[in-house]
Amino acid sequence: MKNISRVTRTKEEAKTSYDMMSKWYDLFTKVAEKKYKSAGLKKLNAQTGETVLEIGFGTGECIISLAESVGISGKVYGIDLSAGMLHVAQKKVSKSAISERVELKLGDGANLPFSNKFFNAVFISFTLELFDTPEIPLVLDECKRVLKPNGRICIVSMLKEEHDGLMVKFYEFAHLKFPKYVDCRPIYVQKNIEDAGFKKIDNTVMHMFGLPVEIILAQKM
Ligand SMILES: C[S@@+](CC[C@H](N)C(=O)[O-])C[C@H]1O[C@@H](n2cnc3c(N)ncnc32)[C@H](O)[C@@H]1O
Repeated sequence: MKNISRVTRTKEEAKTSYDMMSKWYDLFTKVAEKKYKSAGLKKLNAQTGETVLEIGFGTGECIISLAESVGISGKVYGIDLSAGMLHVAQKKVSKSAISERVELKLGDGANLPFSNKFFNAVFISFTLELFDTPEIPLVLDECKRVLKPNGRICIVSMLKEEHDGLMVKFYEFAHLKFPKYVDCRPIYVQKNIEDAGFKKIDNTVMHMFGLPVEIILAQKM
């Protein structure tokens, strides 16, 4: 297994760049990333009455969909590092019919402000791969801590494979050269999940402009 690139920007720098990106983030990603996020939401299959957490909710696209799935008896929480993203997502949620069942917080996914065994499910899309390598197990440990027994986790992430295609090489070059703006990079999602002690239930690999994306569903044992 090859080494994955480190994330060298600080969290302060991440806050600043995501704050800056928050106003136009949907313009560039809403359509391009929709099918990967939809595939993840389908795999997670949030049910009526469930309590679900999204880490790194961005502009809140998946939060709304999760809130629709859990219905009036359920609740969806979100945590994101960027105040700009929180503002955009909160505005979207406030305008929707599901605002009562959504609670969005500013915070770090590596240090979740929730009690043990609180959630039925956790959803993370295009966010795990922007934690630095030593932090990925910490984030997954936090997910395990806040999940109920048999709780589910679904991760949508850029995937590192044994043989890098041209797009992966190009992406990793951009990550190396512009670490503040291209702050994520492909990771070994399944290995990370299994090392954290989750049981893999199902995974699918799709491609986004030639970049492999893994959508993985796992369960707390
Ligand atoms: C690439 S965006 C993805 C947003 C959304 N999940 C989506 O798929 O559209 C990454 C998000 O993670 C947030 N983020 C970055 N570092 C974080 C951290 N340490 N804890 C929580 N959120 C973080 C960013 O502010 C941003 O909103």
